[in-house]
Amino acid sequence: MGKYQNICVLTGAGISAESGIKTFRDANGLWENHDIMEVASPEGYADKPALVQRFYNARRMQLKEVEPNPAHYALAKLESMVSEFALVTQNVDDLHERAGCKNIFHMHGELRKIRHTKTGEVKYFEGEVSKEDYLLWRPDIVWFGENVKYMEEIQIAASKCDLFLCIGTSNQVYPAAGFVQIAKESGARCIELNMESTALSAYYDESHLGPASAVVPDFIKSLL
Ligand code: OAD
Repeated sequence: MGKYQNICVLTGAGISAESGIKTFRDANGLWENHDIMEVASPEGYADKPALVQRFYNARRMQLKEVEPNPAHYALAKLESMVSEFALVTQNVDDLHERAGCKNIFHMHGELRKIRHTKTGEVKYFEGEVSKEDYLLWRPDIVWFGENVKYMEEIQIAASKCDLFLCIGTSNQVYPAAGFVQIAKESGARCIELNMESTALSAYYDESHLGPASAVVPDFIKSLL
């Protein structure tokens, strides 16, 4: 890859949009027709566990109907061409791994995992959580007000990389939106690839606008 040998990538919902998974901040402000706080907060779960479990059961089943798109595959190829690569994703789907990416940090958790509400045990899970388990096993998703996962690993990756790519995120949710600052202060070139400008676009060295399935493969080709 010549110029860059250590790449850190941050992805958000926009990279999976063309695979058929809705982004969070669509025009109506709802996530799959639900108020985000209702289905993505500990309070929402305490209030309506059945609704929350049914919501994530549906999201988990949806994974079976979607496929990675060219942006996911292009990142997997990029990973295979450099000596160090970290893929930090805010997405809870499994499209990066299904495209072949290896070193993935799911900072907001994973739809394919559930967590025991008393012991904290986490396990891979397929299918639908049954009514009897609604209060015992919760989705292993980081909800609003909860700590994100892998902060230490991500901070190290962002501070060591020579190229930082930010793909398909509105950059409205922290700490993810702040990782670029770590990378930039450590001397990395920082590039944003998104459908539209974000509040942080001016902070990036470059912004490439357009659908991820086209912009990401094109950009990665330009690096070769
Ligand atoms: P958002 O829904 O906030 O932002 C998605 C971004 O992707 C927007 O800037 C869109 O313009 C862009 N976009 C949409 N379609 C695209 C496409 N085809 N190609 C490229 N870009 C496209 O999603 P996130 O930034 O990922 O957290 O949201 C961050 C977090 O907020 C989520 O992880 C979620 C939510 O609260 C949790 O659930 C814990």
